[in-house]
Amino acid sequence: MNILFVGDVFGNAGRKIVQEHIGHVRRAHEVDLTVINAENAAGGFGVTPQIAEHLFDLGADVLTTGNHVWDKRELIEYMNSVSADSQERARRVLRPANLLPGLPGYGVFEGATEGGVAYAVINIMGRVFMNATNDPFHAINEILRGIQAKVILVDFHAEATSEKVAMGWHLDGRVTAVLGTHTHIPTADQRVLPGGTAYQTDVGMSGPYDSVIGVEKELVLQRFLTGMAGKFEPAKGNPKMCAALVTCDPASGRASEIQRIMLGE
Ligand SMILES: [Fe+2]
Repeated sequence: MNILFVGDVFGNAGRKIVQEHIGHVRRAHEVDLTVINAENAAGGFGVTPQIAEHLFDLGADVLTTGNHVWDKRELIEYMNSVSADSQERARRVLRPANLLPGLPGYGVFEGATEGGVAYAVINIMGRVFMNATNDPFHAINEILRGIQAKVILVDFHAEATSEKVAMGWHLDGRVTAVLGTHTHIPTADQRVLPGGTAYQTDVGMSGPYDSVIGVEKELVLQRFLTGMAGKFEPAKGNPKMCAALVTCDPASGRASEIQRIMLGE
């Protein structure tokens, strides 16, 4: 079984490059499950229901997010439009599972592939150099106790490499893949851990690489040079789609291979 996980789609440039490549990548690798982190898909800040629908049209089964999940307030209504046991698209847009209690939406989706393989996608967020959330290490223990599927993909949306590596070891042998998002910089450490969990600290952004993590570079440079906050605009240049392709045994959920993908125009 093959799982494609596309890293943080950033703005219009990110959406366009994903649109260009996702179809042929899914066909070439006979992908059974496609997950996209969409938290920066709307101009770099959040995701709208309309953009979510577009990413589903391109073949996504589940969308994950992160700290920018509430940037577009209309997403709340979209998430609230479905119940916990729904399989509709709005139910397949996840927010981090370990946010503070009582917030809209869900952090876990359980479904089945077209071939009938049960899977779960879990979105969690780190705490190091990030806004306050509940402890992701204990939260994921609790979540895993309630999941029946063997094939489990975790999007760990976090800043610090240490926290992400630690989560990889925490979940080794318990999930199919722990894939990092949020830094927008792909790391070259993809591997299958000894217990059979595919791991990569950060899959990297799907967006404009002539930028500072997606933002127009001159605007960010000005902020560093002057210390004055200005408006951030999404960049356009040098778009790339970054993704990880994980191969696993559908019966056990154990990963056998993880491959990095980076495709330009
Ligand atoms: Fe983020």
